[in-house]
Amino acid sequence: MRKPRLQPYRHFAKHYHAGNYIQFSHWISQEVFPHLLTLLNFSPHSLLDLACGSGVFAVSAAQQGLSVTGLDASADMLAIGQELAREANVQVAWVQADMSSFSLPARFDCITCFFDSLNYLLKVEDLSHTFQTAYAHLNPGGYFIFDMNTIYGLAVIWQRFPYNLAQDQPDYMEFTEVSYDYELEIANMRVIMFERGEKRTWVKHEELHQERGYHIEDVLLLLSRAGFELKHLFGHPIQETPLMENSGRMWVVVQKPA
Ligand SMILES: C[S@@+](CC[C@H](N)C(=O)[O-])C[C@H]1O[C@@H](n2cnc3c(N)ncnc32)[C@H](O)[C@@H]1O
Repeated sequence: MRKPRLQPYRHFAKHYHAGNYIQFSHWISQEVFPHLLTLLNFSPHSLLDLACGSGVFAVSAAQQGLSVTGLDASADMLAIGQELAREANVQVAWVQADMSSFSLPARFDCITCFFDSLNYLLKVEDLSHTFQTAYAHLNPGGYFIFDMNTIYGLAVIWQRFPYNLAQDQPDYMEFTEVSYDYELEIANMRVIMFERGEKRTWVKHEELHQERGYHIEDVLLLLSRAGFELKHLFGHPIQETPLMENSGRMWVVVQKPA
């Protein structure tokens, strides 16, 4: 198993979890995932959440009675997930690994990967390996469910806010600066964090988050090469609207044939 080589979500982890970001994960837990399971008429017993982050979705799924494994590259994010599971009094198996090159002894009924996480794979080979590895870890008939930012989302929607005051607390200020590299199809987001230090001075930390946009044709080709069958492709997972040219996010449901 390759060692995770990811720098982001170190210092940012606790601020990510304390900020508005996790509202999206709550929405997925409470609305999107239940909606998709009903649509699929599917009741999984075991779930692997790839790039589980601070564990909001993984812990919620465990509270619903699923047997859950959460995998992420960031030890700091996983530590928050562990604490969340302890507070909720549920068991989740946590694994620190790179989602493009992991190997677990178990097989799962369902694998998920939410909230931009696949965009963090900057090489098409890594996206391809992630799909192949997810396929290998699914039981026959199992579903792989994920979302990704589209190229339009990263190149147009993100760029509407090149500078943003993302969090403004008495002891914490967070700014983001985004840009888009059209040649590489990669969005760069500098996360600039100021924390109140001793004697009320401000201490600065910074992380670079890079997300690559993939053409939907390429995503579907890689999924099909991995062996998956496409079941749903949405621009909005609850309204079930088709993916449009100006959709910021794609929602994909694929199945490993039974
Ligand atoms: C925006 S967060 C989403 C977290 C979580 N899925 C959620 O919905 O809250 C992106 C996550 O992807 C993880 N990540 C990025 N690249 C990864 C990789 N190659 N392998 C595993 N995790 C990765 C990061 O550590 C981070 O926790």
